[in-house]
Amino acid sequence: MTGGAPAAGPVIRLAGVSKIYRRGPIEVPVLHRLDLDVAAGEFLALMGPSGSGKSTILNLVSGIDTPTEGRVIVAGTDLGELDSAGLARFRSRHIGFIFQSYNLIPVLTAFQNVELPLLLTDLTRRERGEHVRAALDLVGLSDRMEHYPRQLSGGQEQRVAIARAIVTDPTLLVADEPTGDLDAQSAADVLGLLQRLHLEFGKAVVMVTHDPHAAERADRILHLEKGVLVESVERERPRPVSSRSSSGTPCVASGGRSSPCSASSSRCSFFAPSARC
Ligand SMILES: Nc1ncnc2c1ncn2[C@@H]1O[C@H](COP(=O)(O)OP(=O)(O)OP(=O)(O)O)[C@@H](O)[C@H]1O
Ligand SMILES: [Mg+2]
Repeated sequence: MTGGAPAAGPVIRLAGVSKIYRRGPIEVPVLHRLDLDVAAGEFLALMGPSGSGKSTILNLVSGIDTPTEGRVIVAGTDLGELDSAGLARFRSRHIGFIFQSYNLIPVLTAFQNVELPLLLTDLTRRERGEHVRAALDLVGLSDRMEHYPRQLSGGQEQRVAIARAIVTDPTLLVADEPTGDLDAQSAADVLGLLQRLHLEFGKAVVMVTHDPHAAERADRILHLEKGVLVESVERERPRPVSSRSSSGTPCVASGGRSSPCSASSSRCSFFAPSARC
């Protein structure tokens, strides 16, 4: 399975996932028979000591790395069944990755950085421009489109990186310590943005953080220690203003009302002004 609407059910399923890194004769066991379900539209925070395997989990979920054992199923796709071209297509359709250090290309403007993932799609130049402007507008940086990364603050750079992550309208946002390099106010802005993408647009978010206050923004906090999930704190949180389309895809309608998705546009989108779906 390489595309189509994601199946109903968890957006992420890890089943018996182990990861052992090998460096020559030395084995580094990282994850041990991990099981994890993340619901569609859920905001999950992942915590744990340095070296416990948090980034490894994000890399497995994004199809950047492969498990030594077990299955990784994301948006209904068993990643173990995909070849490298299939994985690239999967990533471009379903995953928006946000890094601690932003990873913007310094010689490209904010607009061009956000446009990059769209160069892999068959959108026209005009359509790409519309999507880039919508994404930058969503993160509040419409007035910084022609700025280069060095002309932006750290918080603004991270918001450009978030725009780049959402411009393809992915199913899942994966954030690896997204506020790790930011001051308190910029961190709050970025967390507010992630929460808005989750609550308003029904995006599933998996965020690794060392900051307990940042983790508080999530629906659920999982702690990873010595390769296993050792603690789970689940609280009552506001759920996304979303309903489900017939394909099982969360879908956000204007004013919080549910609205059917058209057959040609079965995923939530920032780009359909009438119903966002
Ligand atoms: N490519 C690799 N080859 C060998 N070992 C690796 C590789 N990538 C990660 N590791 C090891 O796997 C373990 C888990 O790494 P990982 O980056 O997932 O930790 P982390 O929980 O994200 O830590 P941090 O909080 O410091 O970012 C570490 O001991 C690390 O040294
Ligand atoms: Mg890490």
